[in-house]
Amino acid sequence: MKNLLSIEELSAEAILAILSLGHKMKAERGRGTQFPLAGQTWALIFSKSSTRTRVSFETGIGELGGRPMFLSTRDIQLGRGEPIEDTARVLGRMIHGAVIRTYGQNEVELFARYSELPTINALTDDEHPCQILADLLTIEELYGVGSWRKMKIAFMGDGDNNMAHSWLWAAKRLGFRIAIGGPEKYLPSAEYRARLDYDGALFTADAAEAVEGAMVVNTDTWVSMGQESEKSVRESHFLPYQVNDALLKHAAPGHSVFHCLPAYRGMEITAETLERFAPAIFTEAENRLHVQKAVLATLAQPLK
Ligand code: CP
Ligand code: NVA
Repeated sequence: MKNLLSIEELSAEAILAILSLGHKMKAERGRGTQFPLAGQTWALIFSKSSTRTRVSFETGIGELGGRPMFLSTRDIQLGRGEPIEDTARVLGRMIHGAVIRTYGQNEVELFARYSELPTINALTDDEHPCQILADLLTIEELYGVGSWRKMKIAFMGDGDNNMAHSWLWAAKRLGFRIAIGGPEKYLPSAEYRARLDYDGALFTADAAEAVEGAMVVNTDTWVSMGQESEKSVRESHFLPYQVNDALLKHAAPGHSVFHCLPAYRGMEITAETLERFAPAIFTEAENRLHVQKAVLATLAQPLK
């Protein structure tokens, strides 16, 4: 595994190896004697806001012996129009790895190709692979290693956003059942479903059907970064898909609610539901650190 650009391109074996190392990283935090990033500088190139992703990567890179360098595209020449191919070739001659949060999936792919550095997708419009790896780690902590195999997982709201896509590919790669519940207009296109080609995925505009029997019910903002101008239209469409106590009556006994955060109370989730499931939700956030340390340790190249 050279990069983490999407869940789509990961094999089941690669996902399982990261999860296994993620559990180890968590258990051994602070007692580590392995510093696979010693002497290395890893850039965090961010075009969008972030709390969890930035803090977890900066902390994790430091804990593995490396130096994180945060580069907002507001400050570097990339934000003034320098081509990504040129930025990538420059950084490829100076640093040792990159973590990129941006809009187009092609941007992380171009960066990886031109820099030849280990490159991690820290969220694009297409996918949020680090979050799904952290969520899988959290499921294993709550219900046991490999417990997702027998589960139905539901994702409610914007069924065509980065989180929904990454969940769909994780379901296909690992073979668990997934239901995407959202307004018809915001479900993945026929082309996307054909590319996914997974009969364990249910797409439905019926919120109760999506949640029926689900052990983990996920949601995310209805207005992803970059969609701010569509806020009021989106909110009017998505309200029937709010995760609240009434909807959760359809979920499996012992279910959990997940949210990648940041959460908008009264929109995709009620305040009561979020607070009731806060232990799981904030463990998901914490697990970003542990699972990303596993990704970094897996991708790090020896210092030349
Ligand atoms: N969940 C997540 O990626 O959070 P941030 O946008 O704060 O990084
Ligand atoms: N779908 C959201 C995730 C935020 C972590 C967004 O892209 O803004």
